[in-house]
Amino acid sequence: MSSLSGPPKFADSYLIEVLDEFGLAIKYVRAAGNQLYYLDKTGAEVGVLDCASGFGSLMFGHNNPELVAHAKSVLDAQTPVHAQFAGYSYGIDVAAALNKIIRRELNTEDKYFALYANTGAEAVEVSIKHAELDRGIRIAELTAEVGLHVDQGRSAVATGATVSADAYALLGLAASADPAEGFERIAAEIGRRNAETSARQPLFLALEGGFHGKLASSVQLTYNEEFRLPFRALAAQARFVPLDRPDLIGKIVDDERAVLFDVAVEDGVVDLIERDFPVFTAFYVEPILGEAGIRPISTELAQAIREACDTAGCPLVADEIQCGMGRSGTFLASTQIGLRADYIVLAKSLGGGIAKTGTVLVHESRYRKDFELIHTSTFGKDGFSTLVALKVLEMLEAEDGLAYRLARERGAKAEAMLNAVRADFPDVVKEVRGLGLMLGIEFHDQGSSSSAEIRDWVEHEALAYVIGGHLLHRHRIRIFSTASSLNTMRFEPSIYLTDEEIAQFDAALRDVCGILRDQDASRFVTA
Ligand code: F0G
Repeated sequence: MSSLSGPPKFADSYLIEVLDEFGLAIKYVRAAGNQLYYLDKTGAEVGVLDCASGFGSLMFGHNNPELVAHAKSVLDAQTPVHAQFAGYSYGIDVAAALNKIIRRELNTEDKYFALYANTGAEAVEVSIKHAELDRGIRIAELTAEVGLHVDQGRSAVATGATVSADAYALLGLAASADPAEGFERIAAEIGRRNAETSARQPLFLALEGGFHGKLASSVQLTYNEEFRLPFRALAAQARFVPLDRPDLIGKIVDDERAVLFDVAVEDGVVDLIERDFPVFTAFYVEPILGEAGIRPISTELAQAIREACDTAGCPLVADEIQCGMGRSGTFLASTQIGLRADYIVLAKSLGGGIAKTGTVLVHESRYRKDFELIHTSTFGKDGFSTLVALKVLEMLEAEDGLAYRLARERGAKAEAMLNAVRADFPDVVKEVRGLGLMLGIEFHDQGSSSSAEIRDWVEHEALAYVIGGHLLHRHRIRIFSTASSLNTMRFEPSIYLTDEEIAQFDAALRDVCGILRDQDASRFVTA
């Protein structure tokens, strides 16, 4: 396999050192379909079944010939890759295609406006910025309304209205015999308190275990503390909701509730009223949590999230970066879970495995067109990636949605295989989860293994790497655990998964299960 000898590396040197401990530092030289190839000592190509699938971005496999031909034709035609700030972008066509698909799936005529980014995390950042712009505009509108009402209150007092005793009491002020003087003190206190509330840091809501990227803001929505905590000071924080406690969401929203004070004049009396302040920028949800160990959320949770967003007045953002684009068997995983989002974020497979692109679709009721002038990116929405994305959407929809059917049918076959292994090794495999071709195999925790070596690997968070190395060297299979659930292997091959590949995985998994059942660490081979 690959050799680590040679000139010093000025990139990835530590990463490669770590991977090499487990035999995972392989130099792949070619990729096609579900296979990655490396050269053995004789220079011959060796194929590896790739179940990691570009972290789930290869719905159509590596270097899909139809996509590659299309990409070449785009370049051969001297298509403008860069024509920023002009009268037309291919992003318009991608957005039209996305609207057609989403409207069909969600059974709606509603419009979704598309914003573009280069990666998944960047698309999440774009959605964060858009939602915060929207929140800021709503705060400004609310503040302007309060200002208008205060002026109305002042005029009312000038023409004989009185100020209610409650108004003074609620603000902790002494009542005044002179309504005009008293009202000015009330107006000043309202202004002071409202300014204080408006200056509060925004808050986000997200799910425990959720993963939304690793850029400065998006990483604060990513639950894993190792990724998130070192960067806490950089951006606004999220409150995380446990997946099995839909009932807690309402309580969290109540806990964080804040108000702006306003005045209302009725029957010659000026009174104080409370207006809900938009505390939350947005609620981020993966319909199938990927890094948390491939966990589809329950319909009860989806419903509780929707209700909480309606109560809090904040947008619900469905992060479909990993589970979307047909991987779950429908274009959006939200469709199967009954999650109705205000924003939908896509990336990974949108680029067909050959381009880098992401998009945020914003429901018309929430869209702030000013954002188009405020947010820009040199490469977001470039002609090459958007035309590749357009082709990807065309391929998904071709033959009346054959790709979705394949994701369901191949996924069901793979899932049946995994469940059969679980039935034979219930002491080793804890659970098989997922939808379509987004599947997870969770092993029982091996922390109290009778093998000291296995216990040691668990302690050093290395067992998943050992299993990965063994599957690679013994079975020519490439697979990783999910980032935040190390006991769960992520199985996300392309829709072209063959019966032979399923059988190959079956045999390999049974081998690993046998080793774990026997607690025989010596049988793991990582070289
Ligand atoms: N959201 C989800 C649900 C993801 O799975 C990922 C990436 C991102 C956002 C960020 O996208 O990497 O393009 O910036 N998940 C990778 C993974 C890291 O391991 O599946 P990105």
